[in-house]
Amino acid sequence: MKHLFHSFRLPFLLCAIGAACFFGGCEKKAELSEGPGKPPSATVAVAPSVSPAITPFVLPSPTEAPPPPTLTESPTEPPVTKAPTPALLNTDTSTVTYLVNREYPLPEDFVPENLITPDVLFPFSDTSIDKAKMTLEAGKALALLFDAAYEEAGLTLYGVSAYRSYARQYTIYATNLARYGAAHANRYSAAPGRSEHQTGLTIDISCASEDFLLESTFADTPEGIWTAGNAHRFGFILRYPEEKEHITGYNYEPWHLRYVGTELAALLYETGLTLEEYYGVPSTLTREYLDTTPFIDTAAESYLSIYTQYHPE
Ligand code: DAL
Ligand code: ZN
Repeated sequence: MKHLFHSFRLPFLLCAIGAACFFGGCEKKAELSEGPGKPPSATVAVAPSVSPAITPFVLPSPTEAPPPPTLTESPTEPPVTKAPTPALLNTDTSTVTYLVNREYPLPEDFVPENLITPDVLFPFSDTSIDKAKMTLEAGKALALLFDAAYEEAGLTLYGVSAYRSYARQYTIYATNLARYGAAHANRYSAAPGRSEHQTGLTIDISCASEDFLLESTFADTPEGIWTAGNAHRFGFILRYPEEKEHITGYNYEPWHLRYVGTELAALLYETGLTLEEYYGVPSTLTREYLDTTPFIDTAAESYLSIYTQYHPE
């Protein structure tokens, strides 16, 4: 249930955001509301490759065994934590615990069943759009989580970006790649088919003091701290923890929650394991590879039309 307090507060906040945008404040931030902010230092954009022809990145199908791990320990990377007995890898989309990542993608035509708009606050008014949707089970759990944040700690959480279709994820990833290059895009943005947002079990959340943006500073807000310590009670995990970048393949994302059900969420919270560690399949892709490899065909017309928007000459 949304609280009366929220009903009064939201219009005020939206007015404040509108005013800030009017005075030139938030165009850049708003367009990146489904991804992280601009990288701290400029990175070289990946130019469309014409010759030699691009070799599309090929991943093993979800049913194939992944290639043997190639990660090596370095002084800057903590070792991969092994689950005492890794669980049998689950890629069954009829469950809530299945793995989706770069090495275990979803089919292009996968659309989750039972998508609904959870009864929570969003910092935008049209909640019939895709990014306000989650599966029925995950959406109900999210409402319980947000209600508890308010009732137990007086904190107001907002949903920012939940379900994304394959096509939507293509646009987001291609835009990040064109604007900032592979090194930045691959740290924060999943290529189409490889994003958990396509499952309907995932949502990015934020709060008013963060201007509803997705920034690592969310972790230090009362809302972020409460979420990190309580999300598991409602079946959610922080999917991309700090210092697990070499295992998940993504930078720290304190805003990205994945619903896995209360049983697995509690286990992962207590053990500190990521989903990859739980299933015994840490990412096998090196940082060097991720920093230089586009995960879409950069010679495709669909990519070139996005690329030229940011590189007109
Ligand atoms: N930001 C996460 C990795 C995604 O794009 O799905
Ligand atoms: Zn996310």
